[in-house]
Amino acid sequence: MEESYKKLIDGNRRFALSKKFEDPEYFKKLSMGQKPEYLWIGCSDSRVPANEVTNTESGEIFVHRNIANQVVNTDINALSVIEYAVNFLKVKHIIVCGHYGCGGVLAAMSNNLHGFVDNWLVNIKNVYHKNKVELDTIPDPDKKADRLTELNVIEQVRNLAKTTIVQQAWAERPLHIHGWVYGINSGLITDLCIIHNEQDDIEEIFRYNIK
Ligand code: CO
Repeated sequence: MEESYKKLIDGNRRFALSKKFEDPEYFKKLSMGQKPEYLWIGCSDSRVPANEVTNTESGEIFVHRNIANQVVNTDINALSVIEYAVNFLKVKHIIVCGHYGCGGVLAAMSNNLHGFVDNWLVNIKNVYHKNKVELDTIPDPDKKADRLTELNVIEQVRNLAKTTIVQQAWAERPLHIHGWVYGINSGLITDLCIIHNEQDDIEEIFRYNIK
């Protein structure tokens, strides 16, 4: 068997053994069902795995990942995940986690063609355009990319708050949306403190009348 492939199967066997060694009931308990308190919306980047960077276990975080952690209000994949997490799993927190050094953000900042993904990344170009005055004051390209990464997370938190799913949940119970950025070179998460808890946290035009 090819080495890089075999590595995964061998790794899985070691994982299963060590978990069972620590707790013989580990997989039995997991098989009973999941009750995660968090929904994580992160980047597909291989260096930002939700469980590892938060030191959590299987069953603790419901995860959706795509390139550059986007919440696009016509993306039926993301909307399905959000609806299931909010209405069925009843998560208490939704976290949008971007990361510094994000290839998606860097690609969106350039005028080069990258392929189909450019159509996905146009959402980040829109964030750039919306914040052009601020971004143009930052001469250093790395610092500018870092700031766009943060602004992108803030925008995606807003996009989440604009969904009917989140607003209907807010009418019934507490649900907190957070914006984070992970530093690949430090391993540390920065909370951007962009917390959305209720309809008043978004502009009036986006608020639905919910009975
Ligand atoms: Co990324």
